[in-house]
Amino acid sequence: MEYVILEKNEAVTLITVNRPEKLNALNRQVIFELNTAFASAEDDPETRVIILTGAGEKAFVAGADIAEFASFSPEEGRRLAADGQERLFNFIENLAKPVIAAVNGYALGGGLELALACHIRLGATTAQVGLPEVSLGVIPGYGGTQRLARIAGPGAAFELITSAQRIPADRALALRIFNHIYPPEQLLSEARALAGRIAANSPSAISAAMNAIRAGYEPLRSGFDKEIEAFGLCFATEDFREGTQAFLEKRKPRFTGR
Ligand code: HXC
Repeated sequence: MEYVILEKNEAVTLITVNRPEKLNALNRQVIFELNTAFASAEDDPETRVIILTGAGEKAFVAGADIAEFASFSPEEGRRLAADGQERLFNFIENLAKPVIAAVNGYALGGGLELALACHIRLGATTAQVGLPEVSLGVIPGYGGTQRLARIAGPGAAFELITSAQRIPADRALALRIFNHIYPPEQLLSEARALAGRIAANSPSAISAAMNAIRAGYEPLRSGFDKEIEAFGLCFATEDFREGTQAFLEKRKPRFTGR
């Protein structure tokens, strides 16, 4: 694998997104490799808990790869969201083994959505999170409109998504996006300690409990479908061209609402 590192260590498998020169942004290849890595950990009889983190000190994942989707048509945009949700985001959420996100830096856009799809989120005190998609003329398309509202409540979701603001780790903790925050140098060891506590328990009971927890929020399906449709439609707007071009040209966008 080119962009993903898989390290199995007894009951705990660590999966690292390894594209630090682009702040671990998710392109098609990264999503494909993450799917392969999670499937391999799920199938590995020894693995009981999975930890997901990002390479480097700066980012967990800074979002979907803007350069990759900047020239997409509405249909390609819709497919990007639908395929990603199926292959990675819903795939993680529905695994039988618990996944802990160790958010070591920026978790923005698709990066925060990836953390939100994990079952447990631990943050570094230096992490910053947000869903900045509307500053690019698109919306969250990897489940963020649904999962952020579920985890942090609709008020926080409306504020964070419409303002596109990045919030620090302590604010994310207060909003229940993070279960705990730790100094960056302790983040992985704390994630491993929690994984060890989980791994001592019955895997079959854990998987049954996870099924029961998920059963409580299954009706969200239509919300995810709505998000995919709305994400695709953004690709027909002038604001989308302007927002993505402005990012690539490293300038501020000028939005018109068209
Ligand atoms: C592509 C990205 C990227 C991204 C960073 N890079 N984020 N490339 N897609 N999401 C690249 C930069 O272009 C740059 O490449 C390199 O990584 C380092 O980033 P810098 O911007 O130079 O770093 P810095 O100035 O420290 O700023 C960090 C940052 C900024 C604040 C995180 O990179 C940023 O705003 N990134 C975009 C965040 C974002 O909008 N994410 C949401 C994407 S939309 P070069 O080659 O210049 O060195 C999304 C949609 C999900 O996620 C739904 C899809 C269905």
